[in-house]
Amino acid sequence: MDMCWIDGKILPATQASVNVLDHGLLYGDGVFEGMRFRHGRLFRPQAGLDRLHRSAAALRLSIPLGREEIMAALEELISAHGQANGADNGYIRLVVTRGVGRLGIDPATCPKSGLFMIAGQLSMASTQARASGARLIIASTRKPGPETLDQRIKSLNYLHNIMARMEATHAGADEAIMLNTHGFVAEGTAESVFIVSNGRLLTPPTEDGALEGITREAVLQIAQRLGLPARTQRMAPYDLYTADEMFLTGTGLGLLPVAEVDGRKMKSSPGEVYTAIHAEFEKLVDEETRQGISRVYT
Ligand SMILES: Cc1ncc(COP(=O)(O)O)c(C=O)c1O
Repeated sequence: MDMCWIDGKILPATQASVNVLDHGLLYGDGVFEGMRFRHGRLFRPQAGLDRLHRSAAALRLSIPLGREEIMAALEELISAHGQANGADNGYIRLVVTRGVGRLGIDPATCPKSGLFMIAGQLSMASTQARASGARLIIASTRKPGPETLDQRIKSLNYLHNIMARMEATHAGADEAIMLNTHGFVAEGTAESVFIVSNGRLLTPPTEDGALEGITREAVLQIAQRLGLPARTQRMAPYDLYTADEMFLTGTGLGLLPVAEVDGRKMKSSPGEVYTAIHAEFEKLVDEETRQGISRVYT
């Protein structure tokens, strides 16, 4: 059973509700974060809260609780989720909305922003895709650039991503890759993208529309530790079609190998680099959450 923290109370998520005049609901005016927990502890919550604060700052949205208060609420929520489900692992969705205001988009009519958090389970890939690699398409829906809305803002506006996700489902594919308006690869609909090409691990830069993914950052750190050359690099569809390996990363998804893009098959799936990084990533999450490193807070 998914559990929700809202207004200082914890209750089953199906019983939690938001006001119909909340601008988060009416206009998608708000920001959110996703976090994983294992062994009852969050993986890199500091990075998530940092990103939440950056997203909120970009929208001039105030977060109604301080970091320590949010951390305390999250711990309470994870514990309630554990009691309700007998599980010490899962996914957290943390949402900050502009709050209740008058009809009309002006945020000035919303005196107090809203905050709620949901703890539940999120499974974003089939067992088959995990084992032998996902089949991807490149979506026709593009990601807007900083000339409209900077994609580093993790806002409640996910319609471009949803349109791309629907394209994938309609095409019978597992997921879609989104290009930016200049035709360069940005990311998946809720994941960061990696390719392996000539022994180098590459991921698109945030300037091309990629989110500052927390899993992406962890993968780059692991590559460095493994001595694998890794960096951000601009990519066109051609780079995906000719890659040796490809995989997607995200908090909800974890790591997922890619078998093909638009019918062009990777040389291997799951590839050697993916397999090595995936094993290290699982170890890293396990160690950090087990040792409570993720809880350490400054
Ligand atoms: C659009 C988008 N890109 C990338 C990601 C992956 O980021 P992270 O690894 O921080 O979950 C997400 C996940 O929330 C996302 O929504």
